[in-house]
Order: sequence, then C-alpha cells, then structure tokens
Amino acid sequence: MINIALPKGRLGEKVYAILEAVGYGCPAIRETNRRLIFENEENGVRYFWVKPSDVAIYVERGAADMGIAGKDILLENDPEVYELLDLDIGKCRMAVAAKKEFKDDREGVLRVATKFPNIARSYYLENSREIDIIKLNGSIELAPILGLSDVIVDIVETGATLRENGLEPKEDIVDISARLIANKASYKFKNTELKTVTERIRAHIGEDKK
Ligand code: PRP
Repeated sequence: MINIALPKGRLGEKVYAILEAVGYGCPAIRETNRRLIFENEENGVRYFWVKPSDVAIYVERGAADMGIAGKDILLENDPEVYELLDLDIGKCRMAVAAKKEFKDDREGVLRVATKFPNIARSYYLENSREIDIIKLNGSIELAPILGLSDVIVDIVETGATLRENGLEPKEDIVDISARLIANKASYKFKNTELKTVTERIRAHIGEDKK
C-alpha cells in the first residue's frame, strides 16, 4: 500500500485527477463528504487530504510515503524529503510587492510582511539589505496598505489580489510549482512502487505537453 498525502483544495483535485488517470484511482474520493482518508486496495493506494502547508510534514515523518507540496513550502521549511518530480501545475511566483509609489531607497531597515520568513530572509541576505520581518498568516496585502510594512513577500498567481489592493510586484524571487515528494525511508523500502508512480506521472505529464 502506498500512502499519499494530497493537498486539500483545487490543486489536490488536479493532482488526484492525474493519479487517477495513471492507474491509482480511488472512486470513493469523488463522493462529497468530510472523510479525510480514502483507500483502494485493488490499486494499492491510500490517500489523505491534508492542509497544503502540512503535506511535507506528513511525508518527512513517514505518515505518508509520498505527497504533493508547493515549492514555496519546500523552500520555506526545507523538509528532509526527496523531491521526485516537478508536476508543472500550481504555477505561480514568489515576489516582493509594494504600493505602486514605493521605491526602496535602501536606507534604514526595510519592513517586510510575509508568510514566508525564511524565503524572505535569505532573499534579502543575498541582496545585503537589512530587514525586519513581520510574520503574518494571511491577507498579507493589507500590511503595506495599513502601514504595517513597507513591502510584502508573497505568492503572486494572476496578480489580481495585488491589483485590487493598489499594490504591484516589484521584484521576482523564485518560480513556484507543485512537486511530488517522497519520504526517504519509503523511497528505499517501497522503491519499486514509488518509482512506478513517479514514472507513470512523468509519462502522463510528458503526453500533456505534446
Ligand atoms: C495567495 C497569496 C495572494 C494570492 C495571490 O493567497 O497569498 O494573496 O493567493 O493570487 P493572485 O495573484 O491570483 O491574486 P491565499 O489565497 O492563499 O490566501 P491568504 O494568503 O490570504 O491566506
């Protein structure tokens, strides 16, 4: 049995559709209910719906053999897992954004609001810019509007949230997409099974791109 942690939400549904297409379906998962665990003995697979930011924890600690996590979470938390495949979905970017009129004069300490303190810290360290991190858990765009911070480091997908709040992207930090990850011990002891999943997904993604 392969245990797979799926990120709850739209990305998870896309990922499940891929897994189903490559032979790891579990029909019960499509029934709308509040269950979090689904199993299909025939295909040898068990799925857990977990909060997207928790997927890597389940995989790192071996509660799941595999999972799908955003590159943002992997960069931020640096979990001890193998990154097997870029799934080329859930694409967005990590960027610095601020009010349109804001320009960093590089004087004094820059106040940075973010859900991703480690990514922000290492970006500004590389740029030799002194910062004060203000860690928030959501609605980051409010911070510069209310004068809580000068800039934000956040995910930009369509850019709509920034636009609708009078902010704009100023610097790109890194491209983000969903990654297939594996527990290190599982990769050793369930190697054939995990490799089969990975290779089937790889082939499926390749087909899509043609
Ligand atoms: C993310 C991110 C931005 C928004 C970007 O927020 O923090 O707010 O999506 O998407 P866009 O460029 O397409 O507008 P999320 O929905 O995860 O909510 P939260 O960070 O406020 O919790």
